[in-house]
Amino acid sequence: MQRDSVHGIWSSQFAFILAATGSAVGLGNIWKFPYITGEYGGGAFVLVYLLFVLILGIPVMMAEILLGRRGRRSPINTMRMLAREERATRLWCFPGYAGVLAGFLILSYYSVVAGEVIAYVFRAAAGVFENQTPDGVRSILYSFQGNAENLLGWHTIFVVMTMLVVARGVRSGLEKAVRFLMPLLVILLLMLVFYGMTSSGFDRAVRFLFQPDFNKLFYRANESGSVVFTLEGVWVALGHAFFTLSLGMGAIMVYGAYLHRDASIGRAALTVALADTSVGLLAGLAIFPIVFSNNMAPNAGPGLIFETLPVVFGAIPGGALVGTMFFALLLFAAWTSAISLIEPAVAWLVESRRWSRARAATVLGMLVWMLGIASIFSATGVTLGDIATRIVSLFVVVEHPLRGGIYDSNWFMLIDTLTTRILLPLGGLTVVLFVGWRMRIMAVRDEAGFASRRLFRLWYLTLRYLTPLAVLAVFIVGIIEGFLR
Ligand code: PHE
Repeated sequence: MQRDSVHGIWSSQFAFILAATGSAVGLGNIWKFPYITGEYGGGAFVLVYLLFVLILGIPVMMAEILLGRRGRRSPINTMRMLAREERATRLWCFPGYAGVLAGFLILSYYSVVAGEVIAYVFRAAAGVFENQTPDGVRSILYSFQGNAENLLGWHTIFVVMTMLVVARGVRSGLEKAVRFLMPLLVILLLMLVFYGMTSSGFDRAVRFLFQPDFNKLFYRANESGSVVFTLEGVWVALGHAFFTLSLGMGAIMVYGAYLHRDASIGRAALTVALADTSVGLLAGLAIFPIVFSNNMAPNAGPGLIFETLPVVFGAIPGGALVGTMFFALLLFAAWTSAISLIEPAVAWLVESRRWSRARAATVLGMLVWMLGIASIFSATGVTLGDIATRIVSLFVVVEHPLRGGIYDSNWFMLIDTLTTRILLPLGGLTVVLFVGWRMRIMAVRDEAGFASRRLFRLWYLTLRYLTPLAVLAVFIVGIIEGFLR
């Protein structure tokens, strides 16, 4: 079956790999992975996450590329067309729609964090961190995050940057930029890791990251302070495997739609997964030595990279330059990911509504920008309880602000949980069920184009059984646990 993409085609398989790596490597690796690893106790969390990358990340990525390439359209229309081809129900379009929603929600907070990264480019350049103590660096972060208008300004800049590229079409410029800037980011990370090796905290950092202690993953303090058994960390690791590889929402699928017929899906997926995982682990190895050398808390939360790395940039000779470059490259990595978060929605509007790319990007950009404001208030410390209190107090007099339980979390945490832990795994699950159980095996084999029968069987069986069972098991246990609590 030969179809053409109306949005153009990558110039080579290598260009696709670069673009997919650009999508996968982003804030998820350098900002998120270290802080969730810190929150869920280190080694055991890392191990479970790596396992999920292997048994579900790679198979799902291959399935997404395969579907995208066969359908050659936006994820919604690809799923619709392939479902029709297999005489299956239109319900299979679910990952398409859920993906558009998830990408949109993720981008709304992603761009707030990326905005903070832009601010840190300038701060590092201005030498703000020179000779700062860890406490000094932290108070700089807190006063920065306390100022909503500031955050809004940077968030606005990032949304505009993203939508400008999206409006022009994903391919122009992206390939070239990723080819040079991504290796540079890895070099800088390596430099930071080498610096970490000379510090007193390096051994502890390595043990923290690679010596699994399952008690730290499974036992956590609850609100009343008592320690309880929970599988929350496993669920978070599952969600992160999807998030960091850009899976479950159509980003890789839509990039697959622009891929040549004769490219090798297996090799592409393996390369992207390997690059992505390496960057995450390197980021951990760069950040945790700083944490332990300075007696900081590994579970500082989403501010972790902004609290730790500047300490080093302030201490080493030429730190202002290194720091500026680091944040600039991180910004770039975030940019190439953000583009792919919104591409499924843009491609769909272009196909189905016949909008121009510019129009689709403008409208979506405005929506993302507005929703981002809610995440800005999360950074400044507004909780769901505060919001609920405000709303309730419009109608009745409220004596005490609403506190405790879900009220203490904030909008950012809510959409992060909804997207990463629920929408992405569900989207990925639907994709593998479709490829594994609904598509004719002939069609799958034809599109996958495996040279080796053995490898095809290995992938196909993993996709049919292991991957869906793993996702379902984590979901079911997580939901039961939620009810029991
Ligand atoms: N993978 C990106 C990161 O790690 C985030 C992302 C998620 C991008 C989903 C696209 C789709 O930062």
